[in-house]
Amino acid sequence: MTKILARVTVSVPASTSNLGPGFDCLGLALDLRNELTVELIEGPGVTLVEIHGEGAKTLPRGEANMLVQAARLVLPKRLPGHLVFKTVNRIPLARGLGSSAAAAVAGLWAGAHLFGTLSRSEDELEALAVKLEGHPDNVAPCVHGGLTASLLLDGRSSAQRLNIHPSFSAVIGVPDFQLATKKARAALPKKVPLADAVFNTSRAILLVRALETGRTRGIDALMDDRLHQPYRARLVPGLLGALAAAVRAGASGAALSGSGPSVFALVSGDSGRRVGEAIRRAFAAKRVKSRSLELTVDHQGVRVER
Ligand code: HSE
Repeated sequence: MTKILARVTVSVPASTSNLGPGFDCLGLALDLRNELTVELIEGPGVTLVEIHGEGAKTLPRGEANMLVQAARLVLPKRLPGHLVFKTVNRIPLARGLGSSAAAAVAGLWAGAHLFGTLSRSEDELEALAVKLEGHPDNVAPCVHGGLTASLLLDGRSSAQRLNIHPSFSAVIGVPDFQLATKKARAALPKKVPLADAVFNTSRAILLVRALETGRTRGIDALMDDRLHQPYRARLVPGLLGALAAAVRAGASGAALSGSGPSVFALVSGDSGRRVGEAIRRAFAAKRVKSRSLELTVDHQGVRVER
């Protein structure tokens, strides 16, 4: 009989980053969760990864899996058994919804909690997740939940939770193609005009205030961006139509979700269904199949469930 020497279960939320003008700074956690259980099984054996849901057919099953790589960063080098990772993935992969940040956070938290007591501080784990995954604007909401602002200072990240009014929720339009973050970043210029930097800074600051107060008037304009979306639009057929359609259908504002290709629409009230349908139709007009998800804001971040 197999003997389980230790076991831990963690769950982590999806996230949308940028929110338009907050390129590489703002992030929002969404209530769509991946679950990971890690077991240490007595006796020799190779590391196993069982995957259900998103990525079940494509993600690596052994040490190359990001969950394993993250957990290894904090687990003792020598273990009295072998590891089995069991994951239920609900966050679509390579769609701008923070799936790799979620994998880094899940692996690190599971590794650090496997033996009951936390082997590292949460700040250390968050720093490791940023180092491994590279995007604090996805890692921070995944760890803390809610709306976050983050920065990188001398290679180290620092993040703060910001208030978001309870009236807001999200509709995500998820096209049925993947877009690697690397490719979406390669589309960006090395330098941007000063006026575009000012355009984004002013909107990002006012957007944060609007998100805090729940004031919806004018949010559409505050979610405009000149630093990344115009350059990425050619990688996402139907993007501009989908953003406009979301707002026409009642969203307060809309933006590319992270590096794309998903669309994030900010909604308040009961327009979610209409907005989702409008985004789907706009993508379909460019022959892009998509599905829509109506999601609430996640306020918990990473959860250790034992
Ligand atoms: N802020 C990053 C980008 C998110 O837009 O490239 C990557 O997940």
